[in-house]
Amino acid sequence: MHVAMIGTGYVGLVSGTCFSEFGVDVVCVDKDRAKIEKLEQGVMPIYEPGLDDLVAKNVREGRLSFTADLSRAVKKADAVFIAVGTPTRRGDGHADLSYVYTAAKEIAAAMDGYTVVVTKSTVPVGTGDEVERIIREARPDAQFDVVSNPEFLREGSAISDFTHPDRVVIGTHSPRAQEVMRALYRPLHLIETPILFTSRTTSELIKYAANTFLATKISFINEVADLCEKVGADVQDVAKGIGLDGRIGKKFLHAGPGYGGSCFPKDTLALAHTARDIGVPLRIVETVIDINTKRKKAMAERVIAACGGSVAGKTIAVLGVAFKPNTDDMRDSPSLDILPQLQANGATVRAYDPEAMREAKALLPDVVWCDGTYETMEGADALVIITEWNQFRGLDFERVKALLRAPVLVDLRNIYNPDEMVRAGFDYHCIGRPL
Ligand code: UGA
Repeated sequence: MHVAMIGTGYVGLVSGTCFSEFGVDVVCVDKDRAKIEKLEQGVMPIYEPGLDDLVAKNVREGRLSFTADLSRAVKKADAVFIAVGTPTRRGDGHADLSYVYTAAKEIAAAMDGYTVVVTKSTVPVGTGDEVERIIREARPDAQFDVVSNPEFLREGSAISDFTHPDRVVIGTHSPRAQEVMRALYRPLHLIETPILFTSRTTSELIKYAANTFLATKISFINEVADLCEKVGADVQDVAKGIGLDGRIGKKFLHAGPGYGGSCFPKDTLALAHTARDIGVPLRIVETVIDINTKRKKAMAERVIAACGGSVAGKTIAVLGVAFKPNTDDMRDSPSLDILPQLQANGATVRAYDPEAMREAKALLPDVVWCDGTYETMEGADALVIITEWNQFRGLDFERVKALLRAPVLVDLRNIYNPDEMVRAGFDYHCIGRPL
């Protein structure tokens, strides 16, 4: 089997590498020659645990290669995956599909023999139809099928999500395309992964519905956390108490500063816009987006309140700025709302993140970037935890108190136990739990 993976962003690079790990011959294609050269030297464009080793292994074993030559990769391929970006279009909130359609045209020009063209990028309902139309128009006689095969990878654990997924969704009714897709995912049959064959349109919608549902769970528990604070209940126990009901499930019920990342904010917005355009507004989704936007903005207020109502002239130490741990991704991170707001209120912000500082420096100007966890706290009036990296979970309390000017700790991820923190002498603030 030969695969061409168009786009060496997060999804393309992880998926291409994992397919090669499955024994498939994979060529990853990108227009960005500098990126291709770096990948050939083993330099990853993103931080994802385990990816560099897996790439090196499969390159060494001859199953994985990188090129800027789309045409050569596509000619040889049984399946061509479109894994290019679909960012939010400026102005109207829809997904920008121009990269997908350009890729479709280039694939059409290069295809040789029966080819399965797979949309791996998150694309709105109907995109597969348009990709098919574009290819058919360019190559009326070509033999091909267009299949939707959405990804459900989480940044930070993408490799195990790919190799041990809860399910694989394949949107096509073509038996020939189904056979190719089944062969590509053959190793997953051995671990009895459910493979759901459905229509292309349904598959496209499954991806958006999945991410939107997860975002809804988060916004729901975040609102419950606000309520818990008012009535003196504990949101973590509420999450446990409801999550043990198998119909609800315990995952994605961690209250926090609001969801970020490259997927939930973009996908909820795109689905809400599509639905509204079609005349079937998804009111729950619209509310989820609104709750999350306001929540991220409200987090700085919590820090200000914890500092006695003002941060003017004060120094705030921040641990973690990535949208979640184990990634260097800053897209839509709550820190992008929190830090500028603290600065606008007169605070000096010192911050540290194990992986995201390179990205963050350009996005968050005038922050004092520090080299390590404890250095960040030196002389600060309060410590704020925004991202729950493991290394922030076992802080030396005495050392923290010695470094801070006042023992104020705002834990926006609930990684510490309130009783223990109070006993340790902290003025501790968290989300939805009584002190
Ligand atoms: C998400 C989905 O989980 C993947 O299944 C999907 O494939 C991916 O989007 C995508 O569409 O590509 P990801 O954005 O990497 O993955 O990260 P998540 O682990 O889902 O976290 C998203 C955000 O929700 C983060 O800001 C995280 O801190 C927040 N979150 C998550 C919470 O606030 N509470 C939770 O209980 C869980």
